[in-house]
Amino acid sequence: MRRLALATSLLLVSAACSDAGPAATSAPTATATTATTTTAIPATTAAEPTTTGPDSTGPPEPAGAQSLGDPYFPDLGNGGYDVIHYDIEITVDPESAALDAVTTITAVADETLATFNLDFVGLEVSSLMVDGSDAEYVRQGPELRISPDGGIVAGEEFTVTVAYSGRPQLINLISAGVQFGWLQTPEGIYVVAEPDGARTWFPSNDHPTDKATFTFRITVPKPLTAAANGALVETIDNGDSQTFVWDLDSRMATFLATLVIGEYERFESEGPEGILIRDYLPTSFNGKMPAAFEVTAEAMVFLAEWFGPFPFDRYGHIVVYELGGALENQTLSLMGSRALFDEIVVHELAHQWWGDSVTPASWQDIWLSEGFATFAEFLWTEHLRGEDAMNDQIEGLHGALQSIGHFAISDPRESQLFGPAVYWRGGMVLHALRAQVGDEVLKEIFHTYFEIYADGNVTTREFIDLAEEISGQDLTELFDAWLFAVALPDLPDG
Ligand code: TRP
Ligand code: ZN
Repeated sequence: MRRLALATSLLLVSAACSDAGPAATSAPTATATTATTTTAIPATTAAEPTTTGPDSTGPPEPAGAQSLGDPYFPDLGNGGYDVIHYDIEITVDPESAALDAVTTITAVADETLATFNLDFVGLEVSSLMVDGSDAEYVRQGPELRISPDGGIVAGEEFTVTVAYSGRPQLINLISAGVQFGWLQTPEGIYVVAEPDGARTWFPSNDHPTDKATFTFRITVPKPLTAAANGALVETIDNGDSQTFVWDLDSRMATFLATLVIGEYERFESEGPEGILIRDYLPTSFNGKMPAAFEVTAEAMVFLAEWFGPFPFDRYGHIVVYELGGALENQTLSLMGSRALFDEIVVHELAHQWWGDSVTPASWQDIWLSEGFATFAEFLWTEHLRGEDAMNDQIEGLHGALQSIGHFAISDPRESQLFGPAVYWRGGMVLHALRAQVGDEVLKEIFHTYFEIYADGNVTTREFIDLAEEISGQDLTELFDAWLFAVALPDLPDG
């Protein structure tokens, strides 16, 4: 059996599950049956935030919204302010998987605030300060509701410092039927947070529309290494432990914040345009670089021709045991040790443009991430093995989709957020667009789209409008059929 090794299939292979290799044909089974019943499943099972405002007498006080209105995750994100920077200082006990942390958030108020919320789940809070003074707060489900003395004036920059500890609780990734978040393995600890796990390990405005820069100061006992997003700027020797300071100066959505602890060896190489490539391998790999990682630089050049310049100044992978899949954490993709295939390297690399730099404005628009990353795999197949091989790959996936229930991928519901249709049909949207507008126009669409939306957020509507504008064509029929209709369209001839 030929391995298609799409990341989506891997998602369904949980840490504890069988060691079945990634194979497109075996992937849809788990979710296939649920796909047919998607429409019967409510959009979200997440609890609505409790709406207890300040219950004093007197006039209502200005409060930041408790939701950013994400249709699938209404309790993610908060209004009234914009986070500029997260400073996460964290000491981890790898044996108990408990942490002791102080996160300082620097934010700017969009409006005058007597009260505002942060997203935070589990963990015990020992102190909370706003601008260096103890502030009043209450916990309401997955929210911290904070009412600093004197409030915050519109336009003002302020800091929130939260000290907390404990062992983070796991999140349910419904579409994969497994639990994720802050995971402990015999080798160490790693975080896979997409879509709603960031709030389990640091207080945040946990929605992809509020991007910020990050500093991580991670203390772990020797001989462990701690890795996170961005640049390793300092390693501090504290005797029995070390503190690894990581700094990310490109803005990032919270779900992409990563932290990996284990015994690692770092490898550096030079990518195109002076981009630093650094990979982290478990020391148990004995320095044996996975062959799949060797394609990184070539794939960067190849994808940059299609998409535009690589968005960040560095990139690489960190390998973890047990995880069956991979995750596109900004500048440092996390790769399960059973996911070391070049298609997946290309998939996660493509996400750096689509998902990380150009980020869907709501979780409902997830095909703008997964469909684009899957389309990059199609392009890579064509690049390596020719057009026929690519068409075979796409036909194989189309056949697999035909035998499972269909739904409109413009509204996958939480239950199918990372289901096979979002990936495969999502890739086919762009394949069909390519057949209609041709390679040159498609490249122009991608490049312009990247130029406009890099370091920001985008909706499906905005992508469609741009594709129509650049191509000068009415693409209503194409997008209606592939994105908004339930029935799976036929593939374009070719
Ligand atoms: N975005 C990941 C990928 O394509 C899939 C994913 C979502 C994931 N949530 C996850 C993987 C949690 C591991 C854990 O490639
Ligand atoms: Zn993906």
